[in-house]
Amino acid sequence: MGPDLVAAARLATRVNGGDASFAVADAAWVPFADASFDVVVGMNVLHHLSRPALARAVREAYRLLTPGGIAVFYEPVENSRVLGWLRDAIPAPATRKGRKGRPSILQRRAWQAYQAELDDRSLTTREIRRAAVSFAEVHARGYGVLVRLKRFVGEGRRKRLPELDARMLAAVPFLERFGRHVLVVSRKAPATAV
Ligand SMILES: C[S@@+](CC[C@H](N)C(=O)[O-])C[C@H]1O[C@@H](n2cnc3c(N)ncnc32)[C@H](O)[C@@H]1O
Repeated sequence: MGPDLVAAARLATRVNGGDASFAVADAAWVPFADASFDVVVGMNVLHHLSRPALARAVREAYRLLTPGGIAVFYEPVENSRVLGWLRDAIPAPATRKGRKGRPSILQRRAWQAYQAELDDRSLTTREIRRAAVSFAEVHARGYGVLVRLKRFVGEGRRKRLPELDARMLAAVPFLERFGRHVLVVSRKAPATAV
């Protein structure tokens, strides 16, 4: 988290009467002792890291966890080359004020300029799984297949897409691999009795 988000989290904690401490650190080098936490959570962070930094950040999560602790990562992913290419081929208009749209990969110059400004990259579920190799268990679940279509449908249908997605994935779990997001829950082995 950056300092701006920490300020927002501090405010949310105060408003809700909570009690929490905050620190800003690089996910790949977290200044806490081994086994300091029962749970480590990362949301939409790993896809901002280079491959080596991602592997290092997941190793850090492992180091920081107590035995039996869990690491939870929720990230945008693209597991299908075909869907990834299609997504990049169709230009996306700016959805929010102050945000730029995305050109098509077929518009070479505009695409290169767009890529040069990016501070994130495409991830796959496999890359996160590989980074989590030290964990005793790794469970990955994909979400958001139909929500890929949100740009192409009207407001009414757009609101229904998450519900339709949930129903479709419950009926055909195999399609999870085509989801735009993944939730990866990894558990560190519990301490063994001696
Ligand atoms: C897309 S935002 C996600 C923020 C929030 N987790 C959410 O889901 O709304 C990406 C966040 O990753 C953080 N980030 C980027 N590189 C990082 C790094 N090396 N270590 C820790 N955080 C990092 C940024 O500061 C930013 O807060």
